[in-house]
Amino acid sequence: MNKDVIFSVRNLNVKFSLRGRVLHAIRDVSLDLYAGESLAIVGESGSGKTVLTKTFMGLNDANGWVDSGEILYGGRDLAKFTTEKEWLTIRGREIAMILQDPMTSLNPLKTIGAQIGEALKLHQGLRGSEARQRTAEILTDVGIEDAAHRAQQYPHQFSGGMRQRVVIAIAIACQPRIMICDEPTTALDVTIQAQILNLIRNLIAKYNLTTVYITHDLGVVAHVADRIAVMYAGDIVEVGTAEEVFYQPQHPYTWALLSSLPQLGVKGEKLYSIRGTPPNLFHKVRGDAFAPRSDYALNIDYMERPPYFDVSPTHRVRSWLHDPRAPRAVPPPVLSRINPEGGSLYGE
Ligand SMILES: Nc1ncnc2c1ncn2[C@@H]1O[C@H](COP(=O)(O)OP(=O)(O)OP(=O)(O)O)[C@@H](O)[C@H]1O
Ligand SMILES: [Mg+2]
Repeated sequence: MNKDVIFSVRNLNVKFSLRGRVLHAIRDVSLDLYAGESLAIVGESGSGKTVLTKTFMGLNDANGWVDSGEILYGGRDLAKFTTEKEWLTIRGREIAMILQDPMTSLNPLKTIGAQIGEALKLHQGLRGSEARQRTAEILTDVGIEDAAHRAQQYPHQFSGGMRQRVVIAIAIACQPRIMICDEPTTALDVTIQAQILNLIRNLIAKYNLTTVYITHDLGVVAHVADRIAVMYAGDIVEVGTAEEVFYQPQHPYTWALLSSLPQLGVKGEKLYSIRGTPPNLFHKVRGDAFAPRSDYALNIDYMERPPYFDVSPTHRVRSWLHDPRAPRAVPPPVLSRINPEGGSLYGE
């Protein structure tokens, strides 16, 4: 893996104000992105995956703000941006975002050729026949056949999966360095999901994109990720290479997430599901946020937030279980069913 850090988040805190109360959505997150890598962010609903990445583009709702921390990219600290004008130098141009629902990103009143053309004009200065030719190439790249004809159609003339391809085409036309995909396949049926995932994988390679892929489905992650960051309650509790997180997971929350993978289920046995609910982020979180739901919680987990412990140069975990004074914890036996050769996680 290329080790050039191109994007770096340092001690980021994001808060929202709602009816006079403050919700602490992102709690002191630090994260590096390496050039050309594909990082997956996984975690339950509400863990902060979308807020974290929207913060990278200045796209959070108006009641939210960066309370402290840095977002370093291209020699600038994006956390200091105050105007839309500043963000427009980043959005689309440097960092593109592909959302779950493609319709929210498309203009229903313009042909898709016109929408791709606008991006080409704005970002690459292409016009006329040059732009038309490049539009057809990009549409072909994203797997849309009969591109010249399709370019003249409107979004409603495309199926859900095809619309997502169009959104990806527009993103590609802007030539971003970083592409954030926020659950881009969850609204689609399973076969189409696999196709879009394949497409994204091919484009990452062809366009040398650095990618952040958000999903709550760990099964999907094996298809796309070089590295995995596990989010819980606004925090990254574990991060490592995909191999490390799948085959040597360290945090009880990661164990719980992996244990609930349908792929590990045995016929006739009830599939594991994590008990309880995540903490309410309107309240201050004390200790390890996962402790009340964990089978492995220590006394200290209820009192003090764990620091990061390095498991390897590429793998770190925020869990007191790694403190030298902690008793030895044995991960759930079901995790031994995650088998690199077995292909259970890699099946289409
Ligand atoms: N505009 C807002 N006002 C108040 N709270 C917000 C706002 N936007 C997000 N939040 C809160 O921030 C937290 C993180 O939400 P986020 O959408 O990032 O979760 P997520 O991990 O993307 O979940 P999902 O898997 O459901 O998409 C949640 O507690 C959410 O309620
Ligand atoms: Mg989300």
